[in-house]
Amino acid sequence: MKIIDNIKELKEELKKIDGTLGLVPTMGALHNGHLSLIKKAVSENDNVVVSVFVNPIQFGIGEDLDKYPRQLQKDTELCQNEGVKILFAPMVSEMYQEDKKNLTLICPPYEVVDKLCGKSRPGHFDGVCSVVAKLFNLTKANKAYFGQKDAQQLFIIKKMVRDLNFDIEIVACPIVRETDNLALSSRNQYLTQSDRKLALNISKALFNIKKLFNDGIDDVRALVDSALKIMEGLDVEYIEFVDKNTFNFQTAADKNTLVLIAARVPESNTRLIDNILLWDAM
Ligand code: PAJ
Repeated sequence: MKIIDNIKELKEELKKIDGTLGLVPTMGALHNGHLSLIKKAVSENDNVVVSVFVNPIQFGIGEDLDKYPRQLQKDTELCQNEGVKILFAPMVSEMYQEDKKNLTLICPPYEVVDKLCGKSRPGHFDGVCSVVAKLFNLTKANKAYFGQKDAQQLFIIKKMVRDLNFDIEIVACPIVRETDNLALSSRNQYLTQSDRKLALNISKALFNIKKLFNDGIDDVRALVDSALKIMEGLDVEYIEFVDKNTFNFQTAADKNTLVLIAARVPESNTRLIDNILLWDAM
């Protein structure tokens, strides 16, 4: 595996490879969720590039950019074990030559960002789309792998690829959870013991909604109430029901419903997100 920190060398190395190329963009602190994407990419492509880059332009003021976990040595070993060809881990100055205020950005439209995570994190998806577009251009990968864990991000990236005719296939990968159903996240490292207990109620609320839906309850207000009871003690930023194909809000759940939650756990003030599809396609 080659570990590359600059664009020139990345391009030279990519010129040498034969066959198909898969890309897995990450911010590092790799866990089994990331590894599921990497494994899929390795199984479907002749070569895989993993990027590890804590992208400053997708963090807002007062967010956790400085304390975001950085563990490149461990990430390197994990990628090596999975058969990754290139680990691309550039410095900020390599990716962004200009000042943040002076960059050309890709800004998804108001309709898709003025809700859910985009609403509480203004500019976040501009930063995500811009760095992902750069990685698509730099690698010219055939396929790129993204997790359903960040469902709005996945939706927005698929739209960007359609809208801007990127010649790349986006592969969606299911959410990987701990055995107790907590969705894996690099930010779980921030959780204290009591936070972790409380955080479990997010997935508990989602799985309970799915059960109630399967029992015949489709009224969103009733389903939200059931979830808020389970999530008492958490600071719930949103719990929303959307159509998975359009991300339009719903008042009654159906077979296309995706339920999304963002909540903060109090002790460490960690913001967590999770989601569930109410109907598993056959
Ligand atoms: P990061 O949070 O590191 O996540 C990288 C990829 O791993 C994303 O596609 C995310 O959805 C996926 N992922 C994270 N946790 C997962 C889990 N429990 N199960 C399945 N997949 C999971 O998302 C980002 O980085 C950044 O926004 C990025 C796309 C790299 C742009 O900077």
